[in-house]
Parts: sequence; structure tokens; C-alpha cells
Amino acid sequence: MLNSAAVLAPSILSDRISALQESQTIAMAKKARELMAQGIDVINLSFGEPDFETPEYIREAAKKAMDAGYTKYTPVPGYPDLRQAIADKLQRENQLAYKPENIVVSTGAKQALANAVMSLVNPGDEVIVFAPYWVSYEEMVRLAEGVTVTLLGTLENDYKVTAAQLEAAITPRTKLIMYSSPCNPTGSVFTRQELSGIAEVVARHPRIHVLADEIYEYINFVGEHVSLAQFGDIKDRVITVNGFSKGYAMTGWRVGYLAATREIAAACEKMQSQITSGTCSVAQRAALAALQGGRTSADTMVEAYRRRRDMVLTQVQEIPGFKTPTPSGAFYIFPDVSAYFGRTAPDGSRISTATDLALYMLNEGHVAAVTGEAFGAPNCIRFSTAASDEKLREAFTRIKACLEKLG
Ligand SMILES: Cc1ncc(COP(=O)(O)O)c(C=O)c1O
Repeated sequence: MLNSAAVLAPSILSDRISALQESQTIAMAKKARELMAQGIDVINLSFGEPDFETPEYIREAAKKAMDAGYTKYTPVPGYPDLRQAIADKLQRENQLAYKPENIVVSTGAKQALANAVMSLVNPGDEVIVFAPYWVSYEEMVRLAEGVTVTLLGTLENDYKVTAAQLEAAITPRTKLIMYSSPCNPTGSVFTRQELSGIAEVVARHPRIHVLADEIYEYINFVGEHVSLAQFGDIKDRVITVNGFSKGYAMTGWRVGYLAATREIAAACEKMQSQITSGTCSVAQRAALAALQGGRTSADTMVEAYRRRRDMVLTQVQEIPGFKTPTPSGAFYIFPDVSAYFGRTAPDGSRISTATDLALYMLNEGHVAAVTGEAFGAPNCIRFSTAASDEKLREAFTRIKACLEKLG
């Protein structure tokens, strides 16, 4: 008799792709779209995308660029004037001195992060990821055959990992640390003092590099944004990632960048040269115009995000059992919903996890959000606040109502 393993056809797909998880934010949005296709009015709070249109002056610059002949292959690390403008921005706003050679422009901050992980991580290297983390970090590390070491911040500390937690997690195999501030999904922002503590730990371990993801820099309600690279003694070991998607509402244009030593920047350029080449010509010209226009458009959007954060926070605080810190930036709210674990839905199914609860809210309340399991925080659910005031108000009214139906 044949055993069952023998009759199963081997997958034609590589082990690499088979091991990779689909992004759960995208998976949830897909489920929401399926319900919408059936005519159901779903409020989608699962996406990490500004609901604003790209500012007009940026769109105009792109139209002009097209007619001016910016239609050819671009230099792999980006147009020289864009790299210079990014270096100027880093000096002006972040007090970081970089030359254009230190900057690599990529297809979104996502590619900048992936380039850096691929360029630094060897198989078996440990990468410390501060959790709750952005969904793609862990999968990027997996692709590089590194080993993720997750450090979870506590609710009491706004989910921010402390210097002491970091010190305790470092081993001789630690190669890289990854975090975002402002953080997706928690909205937490590291203070200067907190980053100073982290910088001191990093300074004691000369092999370790840090990938500081600052993509939400402009969406900050507390005022000060601190770049880890500002701590001079570790600057050469910090790779600062940023981009245009969030602050300038340019998600679809796909322009991000990193700033690093020439050695690391050159490695990322080499990686990019073999995978995608330089990012879109027209989008780069639009990004240059965005920087030349300063922060005014971002500041207007931030005011709206702050107002919505306040509104949603009030509603969330009225939901029994939801525990959440006050987000200091980004456009998410990330309550701990574990008080609902063990409850029963009207159809008799049991809510055992945040994923169960997120699915229940989608099917019963018609609100799409993302389970905290996707972010390394299995007690939580992420709601995006990048939606209109009316939609947000309605969404949390629906959530409250459907939670009241749980037995
Ligand atoms: C923390 C974080 N980093 C990076 C990215 C990727 O940004 P981009 O759209 O520029 O690739 C995102 C997008 O959601 C994000 O939330």
C-alpha cells in the first residue's frame, strides 16, 4: 500500500515562498471586499492608507514631468536632485548630515526596508523586532533566512520596548534591530530619553545595526520626532527609513528611501539593481516637488488625524473591556480586546482569539479591522482612523452594538 506522503504531489513552489505568510492586512481587506461585492455596506478600517488625495501641487509636478520627458529608466538609487533634496530634508528636519551617496530611493519604504534586511542579514542571524510590529518585518527577516526575536512592549508602557528589555534579548548572534516610531500599529512615539537608552545599549554592542522606520514621522501629535541616528556614536550603525506614502498621502506612487553609510547604501543599491532598478521616473519627480513644498500639506492632514484620534478614543473608551493607550502618532488605534475571549457569538461559535473577534466584527457588525496576531500582539485588534468622521463614528457604534450581542 502506498503511504499518503507518496501520493501527494510535491509542490512546484519554492520552500521560500511556501513559508512566507500572506500579509494579514491585505487578507482582511480582501474579505471585506468580498462582502462588499455581495452588496453589504462594510466600513473598512483595515487599511494603513491615508484617505486624503495626494496634494494638488504634487500631482501637477507629475503631469509636467511626463510632458518634460521623464519617461526613461532612472538611475538605480534615484535621481541625483531627489537624493540631494532628501539629504537636505534630513539635515533641516532631523539634524542628520548625509550626502546624496548615502541615500537610496526605492519603490516605497517597504523596498527600502527589504533592501536593508537582505543586505545585512545572514542565515541564522537574529533580528530583534520590537512588537507590536509592522506586519512585513517578520516576513522580510524570514526571506533573508534570519531568525526573528520578538520583544513585546507592555500596555502600561504604551507598548514601547524598554532599553532593559533590549539589553536582555541581545545574544552573540544578534545582527539587527527593527522598530517603527511613530509605530504602526500602536501609534506610540519613542521620546528622546527612551531612544537615548536604546542608543546606549546599541553602543555597547558594536556588531548590531538598527533599522529605524520613520515612515509616520509627520503624523505625530506630541510634537518631537527623534531619529535614532541623531545619537552620534551609533549613527553609522543606524539605517533610517522614510518615504512619501503617509506624510504626503502618496501611497500609490511608491517612493521611499533610506539613509545609511556609503557601504550599506551601496549594498542596497546593488540589491535593488538586480530586483527592480530605479523607481518610477514620474513618481520621483512628484516626490521632489513634495519635498520642495515643505510640510504644510502634511500639517493640515495631521490636524484631521488628531481630531479623529480624539473622537475614536472617546468611543473606544466607552466600549466595555477595550483597553488602549492614547496613540501619539500614526493613524491607528490598537485596543487590547482580550476581555472578550471566551465569549459566545449568537450563532454559538466561541470567540477564542483576536482573529475570531475581528472576523465576528466583520461578519456581524460589517466593520473590517486587523487582528493583532498579524502584529505580534495577539490580544489586540488594529483599527485605522484614516477614514471620514462619519464612517468612524458609525463603525464604533456598530462595533459596540455587535459586542453587546456576545453571550
Ligand atoms: C511601519 C511601516 N513601514 C513601512 C511601510 C511601507 O510604506 P510604503 O508604502 O512607503 O512602502 C508601511 C506601510 O503601511 C508601514 O506602516
